[in-house]
Amino acid sequence: MKRILAIETSCDESAVAVVSGNGTDLALAESNAIASQIALHAQFGGVFPDLAAREHVKKIIPTISLGLHKAGLIGSLEPSKVELEQALAKIDAIAITVGPGLIGSLLVGVNAASQLAYLANKPIIPTNHWEGHLYSVFLKSQNQTKAPDFPILTLTVSGGHTSLILIKGHFEYEILGNTVDDAAGEAFDKTARLLELGYPGGPALSKEAAIARENNLQSAFKLPRPMLDSADLNFSFSGLKTAVRYAIDRGDIDLFNKQIAAREIEDAIIDVLIGKLKKASQQIEASSIAIVGGVSANRQLRLRAQQEFGSKLYIPDFEFTTDNAAMIGAAAIFRLAQNRGVVKNPLTIEANASLRL
Ligand code: KG4
Ligand code: ZN
Repeated sequence: MKRILAIETSCDESAVAVVSGNGTDLALAESNAIASQIALHAQFGGVFPDLAAREHVKKIIPTISLGLHKAGLIGSLEPSKVELEQALAKIDAIAITVGPGLIGSLLVGVNAASQLAYLANKPIIPTNHWEGHLYSVFLKSQNQTKAPDFPILTLTVSGGHTSLILIKGHFEYEILGNTVDDAAGEAFDKTARLLELGYPGGPALSKEAAIARENNLQSAFKLPRPMLDSADLNFSFSGLKTAVRYAIDRGDIDLFNKQIAAREIEDAIIDVLIGKLKKASQQIEASSIAIVGGVSANRQLRLRAQQEFGSKLYIPDFEFTTDNAAMIGAAAIFRLAQNRGVVKNPLTIEANASLRL
């Protein structure tokens, strides 16, 4: 059994987790600490990169303490040097998100992780944020007690990505489709902004849509389902935002009746996501189907996917869907077990804002 201290600062959450596992079975998040910056960025209607980096500088050390404390490795949130050394002695490696993400944010985490690893004489595992999301289905949770079988057909839906990826085995990826413009999370965020629903748009829009559903309110006006019937496995969401803007200008969408519009927007996005995932599942023999990333927190998406894919489907628990460090630790546990991408000298690692899978 190995134990990893994982750190993630790629966007607007400072996150630290302690994750353990043997690299064959599911990994266990012994803690999953997050200092969210949502309230800070909400006033600007989106993530403000300079502010995010500054906030990480303030939060990274307290969040590392919180992650260690929640895992029971330190007794107080302000540990003595000796207590911290004793805690780090129980850790086998430090995992850090090196990209993709906002460079200023990434640098804060990379700096903290590499210095900590250097001082504690631990190897470091530079981890891809996207790979972290993919490995969130390898975390033990209330809903999940067994690892998905390979090959895993995965829909990744976040603020930055919308992709269909086939995971053939550990760290063996085949990208089947991508968004050609906006990501699904961006579609939620941008249309929510048009409806004046605040930031982040996904949860806000989804809440309004649920009210319309409960009250059986249907929109007479229909939005397009972009690329739903295209032969490939790509996505496009920027047209949806334009269609919503025009519909507001024309009066087809009534801003005094946002719930109805929110429901139609949510249905349009989910119809496309489920439609493409279904198309991929018909083309490819997959043993498991997974949906990961921030948008997989969406209740309606979870419900529709459950109806469509049943027992083959894996979606992480809510706490592992939006950005977190447990998923980074999960990917790193498997990397450590296979000795793939483990770096002995922590001072040699670098952040890469546009890192690819
Ligand atoms: O994975 P994530 O936390 O960060 C990125 O790596 O991008 O994903 C954030 C995205 C945002 O666009 C947010 O609006 C969306 O996930 N999101 C949701 C929900 N919760 C978060 N979208 C729809 N419904 C939700 N409940
Ligand atoms: Zn993410």
